[in-house]
Amino acid sequence: MRSGCKKCLGLVLLGGLLLAALFHGWSSSSSSEVDIRQRPESQIKKLLQAKIQEITREHRDIAYHIKEDVAGRLAQNTCVCLADKETFHLPYSELLFPRVRAHNVDLAFLESRPDPEGVRQHRAQEYSSFQMRSQSPADLLVISEANSPLQYPTQGVEVRPLQKIIIPGLGLKDEARSNHTVYLKATLGTFDVAATVDVVSVTGVGGNHMTLSSPRLSALNRQLQFVTYTNTVFHPRTADTVQFATEGHRAFFTIKIGHRIVPRLYYTGPQTEHNISALVTIATKTFLRYDKLRDLIASVRQYYPSVTIVIADDNEHPQKVAGPHVEQYIMPFGKGWFAGRNLALSQVTTKYVLWADDDFIFTANTKLEKMVDILEKTTLDLVGGAVREVTGYTATYLHTISVEGGGEEGDCLHIRNGFHHAIEGFPNCVVADAVINFFMGRTDKLQQVGFNPRLARKAHLEFFIDALGSLHVGSCSDVIVNHASKIILPWTKTESQKAYEKMRYSSTSSDADLYNEVFYFRNRFKCMTSQ
Ligand SMILES: *[C@@H]1O[C@H](CO)[C@@H](O)[C@H](O)[C@H]1NC(C)=O
Ligand SMILES: *[C@@H]1O[C@H](CO)[C@@H](O)[C@H](O)[C@H]1NC(C)=O
Repeated sequence: MRSGCKKCLGLVLLGGLLLAALFHGWSSSSSSEVDIRQRPESQIKKLLQAKIQEITREHRDIAYHIKEDVAGRLAQNTCVCLADKETFHLPYSELLFPRVRAHNVDLAFLESRPDPEGVRQHRAQEYSSFQMRSQSPADLLVISEANSPLQYPTQGVEVRPLQKIIIPGLGLKDEARSNHTVYLKATLGTFDVAATVDVVSVTGVGGNHMTLSSPRLSALNRQLQFVTYTNTVFHPRTADTVQFATEGHRAFFTIKIGHRIVPRLYYTGPQTEHNISALVTIATKTFLRYDKLRDLIASVRQYYPSVTIVIADDNEHPQKVAGPHVEQYIMPFGKGWFAGRNLALSQVTTKYVLWADDDFIFTANTKLEKMVDILEKTTLDLVGGAVREVTGYTATYLHTISVEGGGEEGDCLHIRNGFHHAIEGFPNCVVADAVINFFMGRTDKLQQVGFNPRLARKAHLEFFIDALGSLHVGSCSDVIVNHASKIILPWTKTESQKAYEKMRYSSTSSDADLYNEVFYFRNRFKCMTSQ
């Protein structure tokens, strides 16, 4: 018993020691605190700006002649909100020559605020903090000087957080002198050498400022091949701007710091030809149109009997929609269009997701294989199809979107009909920025963009505005889905159709205000122009 208790005591003591060690380890690692607050201006940024000013001041005395047609097209960051003038009035002229309309988002939103100046300042604050969070030191403008004897890597050097690398490509092409010296300086890491070379003196090893010098240039250059950089300030994705200097010359280059991006791959099983059921989920959102939804499901089943269909449903009195490979998600009443899209998208587990409205009908022309094929073989992330109306008219609804800088007041959003270019090898397909509401996309990429759940009605292009710069978007006119109905004579409308249209198409002033807020505040536009 006694000896047993001694053992107990021993164990307790050992446990206590372990705990103490653990705690010590934990507290000592947390004692090296790092300031990760957003910082406005770095020392390096000031240095680089000074250097750029110095360079642009050169040759001031040489005269020049401005070429208006070229200089006038340079981006100015001063966009203005201009609509096309109405030139002539003819029947259908609006259809044949669509005019560009302009909408002053800032005016529309601010005029109904009690404190417009406060809103403006709040937006400016949010924007400046967004910029600090989203900009990387790797985005700074760096100019390498002419006739610099310094050799260094201009891009492509990357280190994992808190890891060590050899900096490749460092060298000096100096003229003959008695003593050759170079300096290295970093902000987020330290320097060392992985090997030493005779007749080279290295000082500042293990610090963020290292000096190497030698009377023999070849020895110094050999030593430079062994210089290492170790990241010491943890950040999952940033960059360090390194200064590399010798007498009379200074160069800057960036070392990217970041975790390796972990891919999200979809295991789709052995595929001899595209198995749509294994690759694609059809997502839809329904509201008051169960008859249409059932027609859609029946039409899908004719061609794709086992493809999963995800339904987001925000009806007040939901009806059960059951069946094999059908998943119905009931939402709070009236959550709306984008909230539903978001919910449906979040439940997709296949590599691709197809968006279809609940009143679409699949036909023999709705060949999802073609969409999968172009997504598999190109860099596109999303491909739209075509929607055929009851009248026989087929639409692809192609748009290009661009954002022009507008300074402090906000930027200008330009939406135009059209596309950028055709796609080689896919004769019916083009690249654009926005397509129709019948599209297939890479699930993970669409999930990253997401659908703003505040946009309850009439939202569509808003998704593509959010996706600008992150999704590569295309459209193929030969993948066609039928639209069950749009233009229906009023006296044949059922009660539920009437209720639906009341919900979807009624535009109250609070709706308009929400859109103005989204464009003015969330996306920081001052103006929108569109055709
Ligand atoms: C070479 O120059 C550096 C910097 O001026 C100095 O620190 C170093 O001692 C010099 N080495 C020799 C051998 O003169
Ligand atoms: C296609 O994928 C589905 C779902 O993963 C699977 O059940 C089916 O057996 C596959 N069909 C073929 C022909 O491989």
